[in-house]
Amino acid sequence: MTYSHVSVLSKEALEYWVHDEEGIYIDATVGGGGHSVQLLSQFPHVRLIAVDQDPVAIQAAQERLKSFGDRVTWVRANFRDLTEKIEPPLHTHIAGILFDLGVSSPQFDDPSRGFTYQADAALDMRMDPSNPITAFRLINMRSKEEIARALHEWGEERWAKRIADFIVKAREKEPIRTTGQLVELIKAAIPASARRTGGHPARRTFQALRIWVNDELAALNQGLETAQRLVAPKGRVVVISFHSLEDRIVKHVFRQWEQEHKGHIVTKHPLTPSKEEVLDNPRSRSAKLRVFEQS
Ligand SMILES: C[S@@+](CC[C@H](N)C(=O)[O-])C[C@H]1O[C@@H](n2cnc3c(N)ncnc32)[C@H](O)[C@@H]1O
Repeated sequence: MTYSHVSVLSKEALEYWVHDEEGIYIDATVGGGGHSVQLLSQFPHVRLIAVDQDPVAIQAAQERLKSFGDRVTWVRANFRDLTEKIEPPLHTHIAGILFDLGVSSPQFDDPSRGFTYQADAALDMRMDPSNPITAFRLINMRSKEEIARALHEWGEERWAKRIADFIVKAREKEPIRTTGQLVELIKAAIPASARRTGGHPARRTFQALRIWVNDELAALNQGLETAQRLVAPKGRVVVISFHSLEDRIVKHVFRQWEQEHKGHIVTKHPLTPSKEEVLDNPRSRSAKLRVFEQS
């Protein structure tokens, strides 16, 4: 399979990410390497630490960035653990860090990873295959209340309790093994009248499960704290988020840093993709870019 992910807001991200043309930068979510390839080709003296928790993404990015040789250092890790992964002499010396959150198109489009409700596959949804928690485990082993809470909080699903109820009744008979089985349960749980609006009925449940499996919001909070400790004065923390739960965290954390006099928010309002970008790449439509500059 070719690894094809169209980078979102790439021109804008690069503009804010780079302020020192000889600096060391971190791409905390290298994915297919789209943002990084632009950084390395446009700024021939920068170096890059490329991070991703998905070994498939790392492999694809290594292939794409191989012509840059030892200008790139590879780290397969969750960005929440970056402090331990970056050599102590580099702490507070990183010129800028980019987070382009969420899953990449290849992760989403490969049915075997279980992220998509468009295909039938094992319930997985892990970005990091060494994570012991899969969607199968959560759906089959957690209590009805926990499932309902997750769907409500992370999917903003108004039928969370009913869906959890249907899940728990179904798994009493046999384990729920596939995305297809889960989609059928969600469809049965949401009343037909409500199913006519709001897109695919499984969209919110799948979002919630993905966030839960990968502990995405806690990882984001920790990743941002780590970033703040690593980035040098005048360096930027640049974040592209794709849904309101993520964006709320970024906005809140940046405000808190400003109150603590750690620097200032560069983007009073988040940047969003142009109409042309959304037409070219519909997956960019919910993207928001926020930037913080260290004092
Ligand atoms: C939207 S893609 C990045 C695409 C990349 N910027 C490009 O232009 O090709 C997000 C990537 O971040 C990775 N990721 C998400 N959360 C992560 C985390 N907490 N730690 C490390 N990597 C993470 C995913 O595995 C995925 O490869």
